[in-house]
Amino acid sequence: MCGIVGYIGNREAYPILIEGLSALEYRGYDSAGIALVDCGMVNVHKDKGKVDNLRTLTSDCPKPGFTGIAHTRWATHGAPSTINSHPHTDCQNRIAMVHNGIIENYSYLKDKLIKEGVEFVSETDSEVLAQLIGKYYSGDLVRAVRRALSEVEGTFGIAVVACDNPGVLVGARRGSPLVVGVGEEELLLASDASAIVRHTKKVIYLKDNNLIELKNGEYNTTTLDNKKIKPEIHRLEWDADALAKGGFEHFMLKEIFEQPETIKNAMRGRILADDGIARLDGLNLVFQELREINRIIFVACGTSWHAALVGEYMIEELTGIPVEVEYASEFRYRNPIIDSHTLVFVISQSGETADTLAALREAAHKGATVLGICNSVGSTIARETQGGVYLHAGPEIGVASTKAFTSQLTILSLLTLLLGRMRRISHSEGMTIARALQNIPKQVAKILKQNDHIRQIADIYANHNNFLYLGRSYNFPVALEGALKLKEISYVHAEGYPAAEMKHGPIALIDKDMPSVVLALKDSVYDKVISNIQEINARGGKVIAIASEGDKEIEKFVHHVIYIPKTLAMLSPLLSVIPLQLLAYHIAAFRGCEIDQPRNLAKSVTVE
Ligand code: F6R
Repeated sequence: MCGIVGYIGNREAYPILIEGLSALEYRGYDSAGIALVDCGMVNVHKDKGKVDNLRTLTSDCPKPGFTGIAHTRWATHGAPSTINSHPHTDCQNRIAMVHNGIIENYSYLKDKLIKEGVEFVSETDSEVLAQLIGKYYSGDLVRAVRRALSEVEGTFGIAVVACDNPGVLVGARRGSPLVVGVGEEELLLASDASAIVRHTKKVIYLKDNNLIELKNGEYNTTTLDNKKIKPEIHRLEWDADALAKGGFEHFMLKEIFEQPETIKNAMRGRILADDGIARLDGLNLVFQELREINRIIFVACGTSWHAALVGEYMIEELTGIPVEVEYASEFRYRNPIIDSHTLVFVISQSGETADTLAALREAAHKGATVLGICNSVGSTIARETQGGVYLHAGPEIGVASTKAFTSQLTILSLLTLLLGRMRRISHSEGMTIARALQNIPKQVAKILKQNDHIRQIADIYANHNNFLYLGRSYNFPVALEGALKLKEISYVHAEGYPAAEMKHGPIALIDKDMPSVVLALKDSVYDKVISNIQEINARGGKVIAIASEGDKEIEKFVHHVIYIPKTLAMLSPLLSVIPLQLLAYHIAAFRGCEIDQPRNLAKSVTVE
């Protein structure tokens, strides 16, 4: 979604801002803009389209200034257009502002400002805030921002500069992340650290309802109601290399191939294989508290929600604890029942998903213990939960989530082992699970070697417009995830179903033009899945099967097979999802789609 970069220091701001915008491209956007403060003016350059377009637009004009702000916009109020792009200015061009989030009472404020004679140029909610700051600005930018923000309802992460105050940049947030980079005689402000990491590893994560003034290489942090705060400085763990494609054509492919490593990172230091136990110290729960849990609710969106479904199957089977999996957007509005023995886990790669964050706050408000499974260190969800587990997967840049999913599954397997050993799982079963888990990275690497084979299958089916994904038990959520991957990056219609549900409707769609991708592993539901495959065959449908190594028999019933190594049923999604990620990737590539930044999608969905 929208991205913010700000710079103030002793270097020319333009190249730093434009490079920062490029680093934020992965978030998904439709227009880009920049404002530079110089010689008593704020000079704004903006246009719809990509950052490269902005580069071309500004290539011939001078771009002086040591202070500036920049933005990538993902349209909410008003179509993608030059005029609706950020930065927005007040009508006297004295201040410029970039905004992430939504001003909910913008219509009321806009009417009021129009009556006062303010002329609006855009259709956006954001311009209202820029005009409001302009209205209150009389030389003290912090005061004007504070006053304007006291009147707005909704969410914001903002960066503001003023024409006659070249040494000042103001940022503030509520519900939309902002991070400040502390460099040598320079400061940066951004909506995520990827725009900062090339310049400094020292960062401050701004908290909700905080405001920061960046001035003369120093910063001053207060609450919106002006109470002084001493922010904590953190060190970024990842470096700029993590933001490069490393020889792969797309970030998505790089991230698929990183999985043997990222899965290892997710379990590093967390398995005691000889004891058959897992340790997740970040949960901040003692033995007694873990023993007393009698219900778990997982709350998440999208791919993270699919991981949660696998978690439900594992935990219920191996620990006996009842588990519910909720869409974050539904959970928060339906008055869920929570008691003191209910543990709520929010799962989020970005740690910034608005619906998941709101659900977290709702659960905490109801007195639940809320824990997180997040990838982004220092993200809002990671900070607002009472404890949790980091994925340590490194930045995920491809919009379609891949490595985060398998890391989430790894953590959920560890959680199952941890809770299970206190209940139903014996020492020897624990050892079997721990060892099987340790074996997964090697098995994933083996599947990745079939990339060319999967690419050939993708070539055959790349021009098909409808797909069905079917699986049972642990591999039903994988069917959902495979279908999601395909539709988001290739714009091909795909539906995931529990294999048996096919008979209750989707079977009507099956013909020679609607291939089915079927997860048919040698597990307790294998025979049932084979019957489902026969039903597809009987209707002339084509089948691509994901099958267990050694299962030669299946070749009789299906058109293509992708074999994966054998593991425990509970861990099989960690392997079976890999071919589906590659299949989606190659189909999208054959169709010429923009794989890392699919249309309409955003990496981190920070609006409801
Ligand atoms: C799918 C995808 C989305 C996210 C969802 C939740 O590939 O990326 O469905 O999984 O928006 O995002 P997080 O996990 O960041 O909360």
